[in-house]
Amino acid sequence: MVMGKYYITTPIYYPNARPHIGTAYTTILADYLARVRRSLGDDVFFLTGTDEHGMKLSKAAKEKGLTPQQFVDQLADEFKVIWKELDISYDRFIRTTDEDHLKTVQDIILRCKENGDIYKGYYEGLYCVDCEQYYTEKDLVDGKCPIHGKPVEHLSMESYFFSLSSYQDKLLKFYEENPEFLPDRFATEVINRVKGGLRDISISRPKRYLDWGVEFPGDPEHVVYVWFDALTNYLTGVGYSTDKKMFGKYWPADVHLIGKDIIWFHCVIWPAMLMSAGLPLPKRVAANGFLTVNGQKISKSLGNVIDPVEIKNRFGTSDILRYYLLREIPFGSDGDFSLESVRERYNNELVNEFGNLVNRVLIMFGKYGREGSGVDEGLFEEFEGIVDRYLRHLEDLKLKQAVDTLWQTVSLANSYINRKEPWKLAKDNPEEAGRVVRTLAEYLVFLDAYLYPLLPEGTTRLAEHLGFDHPPKITELKPFGENLQPERIREGGLILYKRV
Ligand code: MSP
Repeated sequence: MVMGKYYITTPIYYPNARPHIGTAYTTILADYLARVRRSLGDDVFFLTGTDEHGMKLSKAAKEKGLTPQQFVDQLADEFKVIWKELDISYDRFIRTTDEDHLKTVQDIILRCKENGDIYKGYYEGLYCVDCEQYYTEKDLVDGKCPIHGKPVEHLSMESYFFSLSSYQDKLLKFYEENPEFLPDRFATEVINRVKGGLRDISISRPKRYLDWGVEFPGDPEHVVYVWFDALTNYLTGVGYSTDKKMFGKYWPADVHLIGKDIIWFHCVIWPAMLMSAGLPLPKRVAANGFLTVNGQKISKSLGNVIDPVEIKNRFGTSDILRYYLLREIPFGSDGDFSLESVRERYNNELVNEFGNLVNRVLIMFGKYGREGSGVDEGLFEEFEGIVDRYLRHLEDLKLKQAVDTLWQTVSLANSYINRKEPWKLAKDNPEEAGRVVRTLAEYLVFLDAYLYPLLPEGTTRLAEHLGFDHPPKITELKPFGENLQPERIREGGLILYKRV
């Protein structure tokens, strides 16, 4: 992997209800990647936040008897609390009501306008408020929104348009020249749809219809349509309208991580907007599938939500959520969330395979670790082979394969113990027992560094037990055998995860 800067984003979420596990999913994946990249020495900027304008929020606020601003203030705070509970290490939490964002939106519109891509017209069509998206008759399923299964509204109004249609060839050329840009499993579908022709899109609403939004530059009677507003958050987040130096450093984004339902916006509309505004395009859009319960998408609108904080509390650690989501579901596929399989993975893998390994090694180290000298390089060579494969999968964003591979480092240590049986060696050959156990303790330092993005809570506790302030960065690791300072290791074992 070539190291440098790494700008990663999540979608900004509609704060019309607390985040559920479906919304936490992308955020957790992004957090994992952000932590990996920091550990590998990249200068990372990780952006997440809330998408606060639009009809959906305005309606939700009204139902609660609040102004939209009061309503989104409350929920944005809730999002922050929950992300903290889940150890989400974002660098900025952006809100589309932030002052600097309003400036960015207006500026981008002006740039697109200068480029001749914005004109006033008349809009007539079908609209799903839950999606904040237009549909045509043929998109609907039984006359209803294909995502939410709810009736759509018939809208007819004056509107500004963005001439998306003039970007068809440029987009197709861009996809061809940048095969990494489109999300793996969905690339062909996007390309075919773009080849099928693009229609200009409505990008404003008359204020009399909706006044909760960014004022359209040059026309106080209109507000900017929520998606045009939302997408530009990725520019605001790294200082587009406040800090040119920062913007120059981080833009373009290295990866926009999103859910598969918003691919069109990120892979077609967004690059066209950026082309029109004369800005560099993001390097990659990567999309996860949906989390389902009994095969049905988890969604606020469908009312089958699972609270991620409840899962954390049930198992006593947020590590289980990221571990489960990364390991259970191939990135890009839909995956069914089942508490039973969370419990199985937790007990078998976190408690037994990793937790027991840590505890056994620490106890054995206390008993036999101080005899003799040196470590066993052979174990480390095997470890390096696994890690190489792990990093290659990561580079390709094959996240499940990556984590499956990474976990082999845990199995490797367990089989090393079973093979060497240090407690038997201790009787006849205490020096060899000491070497084996020191090898394992040193190995824990490497595991700690590599597993940190996946299990930040557990590895932080292990680091402290081993005498470090924090799990070491991968780039900070010294050669095998030179990291552990035996006098700093705390006495006794360590129970990282309790059986549930
Ligand atoms: N506000 C827009 C995004 C704007 S980004 C410039 C939006 N918000 S959302 O809150 O409705 O959804 C945000 C993300 O959450 C989407 O990527 C969506 O796919 C994801 N998910 C919502 N429910 C989900 C699941 N059940 N499973 C996986 N992802 C889910 O769209």
